[in-house]
Amino acid sequence: MTEENRQWRLRQRPRGPLAPDVFEWVTEPTQAPGDGEVRVRVLELSLDPANRVWISGPSYRPAVEIGAVMDGFAIGEVVESRSDAVPVGTLVSGDLGWQDYAIRSAKAVRPLPGGTERPLSHHLGVLGVTGLTAYFGLLAIGKPKPEETVLVSGAAGATGSVVVQIAKMWGCKVVGIAGSAAKCEWLTGTLKLDAAIDYRAQDVAEALGATCPEGVDVYFDNVGGSILQTALHAMREQGRVVCCGAVSGYDGATPPPGPRGVPGLLIARRLTMRGFIVTDFAPRFRDGVQALAKWIDSGHVKVQEDRIDGLERAPEGLVGLLAGDNIGKRYVHVADR
Ligand SMILES: NC(=O)c1ccc[n+]([C@@H]2O[C@H](COP(=O)([O-])OP(=O)(O)OC[C@H]3O[C@@H](n4cnc5c(N)ncnc54)[C@H](OP(=O)(O)O)[C@@H]3O)[C@@H](O)[C@H]2O)c1
Repeated sequence: MTEENRQWRLRQRPRGPLAPDVFEWVTEPTQAPGDGEVRVRVLELSLDPANRVWISGPSYRPAVEIGAVMDGFAIGEVVESRSDAVPVGTLVSGDLGWQDYAIRSAKAVRPLPGGTERPLSHHLGVLGVTGLTAYFGLLAIGKPKPEETVLVSGAAGATGSVVVQIAKMWGCKVVGIAGSAAKCEWLTGTLKLDAAIDYRAQDVAEALGATCPEGVDVYFDNVGGSILQTALHAMREQGRVVCCGAVSGYDGATPPPGPRGVPGLLIARRLTMRGFIVTDFAPRFRDGVQALAKWIDSGHVKVQEDRIDGLERAPEGLVGLLAGDNIGKRYVHVADR
């Protein structure tokens, strides 16, 4: 075996906004799998705001160690196998890391479902973690009813752009919050949202007053921080706040305090505020994927992707994701099949 394995390893923990030089580019010979293991060639690599959390320290999972290959969800093809369960040629998803080749236990990778005629990137995005987060977060936790008002932050991002489309399909009034005029135009023009708020250019409290005078029934929160604070004050009685992520606090040394109004507002307005991790719903993933695939095919959910070419560009791609450069699901195309 003579192939080289190009890798991004973590050189140091970031102390403030992420810079690409916290990662180190290393090339080593590929390894052979042991008993029960497979060697997987990485094809498409997901970039996720959570990557920034994983390198800061322990969170809902152990921190990436200094000197270790950067963790990352990916799709790949098994090129060498010491497991009858996962033969050569199988397309799999899993935490394969920022590298060309990963050695993994066959139990640590998941063969893709039958729909591999779809672009592989869909299995990272709308039919993968992103779409499932949107599906279960909105429907199982937010529980919107037709004609209710649904507010979504990070609305032009990977998760948010699926949430808003499901909410529209559900017959809700949908308002998105995003970080540029171009994103807001895309949300109202292409995705047909009822309104969009550019939080970098507008006063969010004022804009919420104007776009949601009746108040918000479901707030799907991707960002935390000051937008969560403002949205809480716009909630109606019996409203539901879905705590999906807090990206506004990921890329600094210390997350900002807050929000104010907890628990006072929760009590006075009988609000429910609930967090979740998408894997809580793992036993129901198959249902979620089936529903999302059906909605893509029917045109109710448009797939929006933001592709970066080349493993060597993964660090700059993550820095740009945290800065809001993307519309839809950002991923790195590492290799053709
Ligand atoms: N609970 C779970 O299981 C789960 C699973 C997946 C993802 N998530 C969370 O879902 C959220 C969205 O993830 P994603 O993968 O879909 O990423 P994404 O939305 O595609 O990308 C991140 C977006 O965050 C926005 N952003 C960055 N800094 C911000 C700030 N200070 N204030 C407001 N917005 C900011 C940027 O858009 P703008 O231009 O609009 O600023 C950027 O495009 C993240 O918080 C992530 O951690 C949770």
